[in-house]
Amino acid sequence: SGPGTMSPTGQATGAAQARMAQSGASLTNAQGTRLHDTDHSLKAGPRGPVLLQDHHLREKVMHFDHERIPERVVHARGAAAHGVFKSYGTATAVSKAAFLAAGAETPVFVRFSTVLGSRGSADTVRDTRGFATKFYTEEGVFDLVGNNMPVFFIQDAIKFPDIIHAGKPHPDREIPQAQSAHDTFWDFVTLHTEATHHTLWNMSDRGIPRSYRMMEGFGVHTFRLVAADGSTTLVKFHWKPKLGVHSLVWEEAQIAGGVDPDFHRRDLADAIEAGAYPEWELGIQTFPDTPEQTFEGIDLLDATNLVPEELAPVQPIGLLTLNRNPSNYFAETEQVAFHVGHLVPGIDITDDPLLAGRLFSYLDTQITRLAGPNFSQIPINRPHAPVNDMLRDGFHQDAVHRGVAPYRPNSLDGGCPFLAGADTGAYVETPVRVPEATKVREAPESFSDHFSQPRRFWLSMSAVEREHIIGAYTFELGKCYEQAVKKRALQVLANIDVELCARVAEGLGLPAPEPTVPPADIEPSPALSQVGQSWPTD
Ligand code: HEM
Repeated sequence: SGPGTMSPTGQATGAAQARMAQSGASLTNAQGTRLHDTDHSLKAGPRGPVLLQDHHLREKVMHFDHERIPERVVHARGAAAHGVFKSYGTATAVSKAAFLAAGAETPVFVRFSTVLGSRGSADTVRDTRGFATKFYTEEGVFDLVGNNMPVFFIQDAIKFPDIIHAGKPHPDREIPQAQSAHDTFWDFVTLHTEATHHTLWNMSDRGIPRSYRMMEGFGVHTFRLVAADGSTTLVKFHWKPKLGVHSLVWEEAQIAGGVDPDFHRRDLADAIEAGAYPEWELGIQTFPDTPEQTFEGIDLLDATNLVPEELAPVQPIGLLTLNRNPSNYFAETEQVAFHVGHLVPGIDITDDPLLAGRLFSYLDTQITRLAGPNFSQIPINRPHAPVNDMLRDGFHQDAVHRGVAPYRPNSLDGGCPFLAGADTGAYVETPVRVPEATKVREAPESFSDHFSQPRRFWLSMSAVEREHIIGAYTFELGKCYEQAVKKRALQVLANIDVELCARVAEGLGLPAPEPTVPPADIEPSPALSQVGQSWPTD
């Protein structure tokens, strides 16, 4: 055989085949040596000094001292569950991915999260929620690393450290998370007005979901699907909860945050334990893969844009059911490593500059967070497909590699692992034309309209949703110390809608400015309102 990298135990199938951490009836140390006392240090006499030679004491305390790993730099707080994805087979015309074939069933692991809070923060804060899904397909792992909002704050990943630094606790006082009490957050999103759309979603009811089970999920970026005949289609991914989309009202979120900071985590685990398995339909909006990569004038490479469902209906392609709670939080929820670059044949990326930065960032951060390059061997991250790579050694290498020649072709190991054909291999370059261009740093002109889409969102809201948005802006901006920041935020609101601006200005006791850009002449999208989605879909 060739230079295989499979572990000696053979094909890994995720957590189920993890080494049992506890075995044997007797308490032992890490070397399997049985112990007769784990409560008393070895001492020179009952009241004498503790002896350095007590290996059990040193090993026990040493291991405890190193129990913590760094929390995720964003999305640190999360809750997760196992489940299954059943494909309807309705995407086979646009993607050759095996897990999208009719009737295919694929194990999945889904992690929901808040973005800004630390691992111990409260669940019900106003924030975006992560919705990350790992599909353990027979062709390798596919990760759909999305959020509960279809748009993002920034258009270019180079600003990601900046927006996160603006939103995380202040360096001097470490005063806390989310939008509240953050002059820096509001300073950033009013100086970088591309953030207006996502911020408006955050100030809407979507920022305080009732339950992870009642949130939509979005892949945000435009992806490229590749069919068996080589044809390509641009798509946006959507998760639609069978329970409908529901939110808390602000007062409920405040009370729940105080009384039960684990509100969402508990809700998810309790529901699954009780057999009330949450379900989502996966759907796609499809767009022709034209050289412009626009649809109805909307730039599909700009992650601050969404495409209204009235213009491109969401077509259901499969059903996700979460049916099993993790058995160990650290082993599974904490150590899971998602990556937008984990793709299978039939799913490819586009040139969205935000996506490009993500392709670098996740792998990079996980080298620190999971201490070295071998985190794909951690049980929760192991593919269910056979692994035969040419990667070797490194911290926490679990596999015992055979052979002497981890390269190909080679003539020493009795044969090489074969290479898949272009039709079955992943990371096959879809023949997309790259325009002849000069190196530049500037954004395209099509990225410069920052107010039309927020205005559409505002115009699509019901009366009660608008009241909630006004209340949220008034409360959050009311926490800013800097008058200049509040005034700039009102200017942004005026550019979305004069009534929204006037109501928030009134609440803040400040004058309402005139818009600096004419209000966009834009149709509402009723599908954006939660009212239409408040009821179970069947
Ligand atoms: C983590 C979504 C943009 C860097 C996450 C997670 C989600 C997510 C859901 C949590 C994954 C988990 O549960 O483990 C998104 C979405 C984005 C976006 C939907 C925009 C469309 C970015 C950008 C960057 C970035 C632009 C950096 C340039 C990170 C990092 C983590 C993370 C470093 C921590 C990963 C880890 O420690 O495993 N993101 N993100 N994200 N994201 Fe993003």
